[in-house]
Amino acid sequence: MKACTVKPGDVGTASVEEIPEPPESDGEVLVEGLYVGICGTDVEISVEGYGEPPAGHERLVLFHESLGRVIQAPSGSGLAAGDLVAGVVRRPDPVPCEPCSKDQWDFCRNGQFTERGIKGHDGYGSQRWRVAPKFAIKLDPGLDKLGVLLEPTSVVAKAWDQVGKIAARAATPTATALVTGAGPIGLLAALIGRQKGLDVTVLDRVTEGPKPSMVAELGATYVTSLDDVKERPDVVIEATGIGQLVFDVIGRAAPDAIVCLTGISSGTREVGIAADAVNKAMVLSNEVVFGSVNAGLANYQQAAEALAHADNDWLAKIITRTVPMADWAQALKRQPDDIKVVVDLQAA
Ligand code: BGC
Repeated sequence: MKACTVKPGDVGTASVEEIPEPPESDGEVLVEGLYVGICGTDVEISVEGYGEPPAGHERLVLFHESLGRVIQAPSGSGLAAGDLVAGVVRRPDPVPCEPCSKDQWDFCRNGQFTERGIKGHDGYGSQRWRVAPKFAIKLDPGLDKLGVLLEPTSVVAKAWDQVGKIAARAATPTATALVTGAGPIGLLAALIGRQKGLDVTVLDRVTEGPKPSMVAELGATYVTSLDDVKERPDVVIEATGIGQLVFDVIGRAAPDAIVCLTGISSGTREVGIAADAVNKAMVLSNEVVFGSVNAGLANYQQAAEALAHADNDWLAKIITRTVPMADWAQALKRQPDDIKVVVDLQAA
């Protein structure tokens, strides 16, 4: 079968390779790979050498945002041939640490977890893959191709889940949210914010393309400058990773605000911050700033539900480009109007 493989850090090696059928050690559920989504992490792996191939291998089968159709599943697994599924990214560490033992591998304490398509475990960018039933998340069949959005949705479902847990500390209402960045993570964060009934504002720098109207269709407000955010937000989901913006939003949130950082920037620019003033403002307003990565098992279920309740026409606008497997390496280069680019694993 064909697979998208790369030697991490050597983008010139990114290609389609003929590889053996998926190993049974990956799990009893055999899946036909339909689509994978490309994200910044895949670019970091291919270009900058983030991640690592499985022990003893030079190349990594890339991609962690998956969608497939079950070919074969063990009886009693809750899965059957024909089911639409997406695979969980992280696998618990072998110790396992306390969070990993409770399906919260996103909070792994010892860093010995693996991640499919990223760290020490081949990914989902192959025409067939295997997973254990627990790591195959069943999707609403009506989602069809849109199910490839499950993994990025799980990342924002986790962010919102944590916001909810932190918010439970006080009687402060969480009524308004600011989402910074209208890429896939920002748009999906805005979607869930609206599903939760918050008044959502999305900040991005573009004025053209589909983003402003997509935000409006959610019933949210689109702005291109922080100065246009009229009310100090109770919740911020930061999805750009731009250091300056991170500190700007921390300084402009409401009393008792919760600021969730989900973005990483590969930039190295230093920003001057008035550290004492930031500290004082955070202390005197009970502000919580926290980082969030990956997703636990429960968050995948929350994400599957969020997608099932979303408008498919709206979700479809997130996928701005679909490329055949043969062209996946070129698709790592962003084009100006890209939001989410997906790879069709069957159009080889
Ligand atoms: C993925 C996460 C993963 C993280 C770090 C992100 O792109 O969505 O699942 O944990 O990269 O490797």
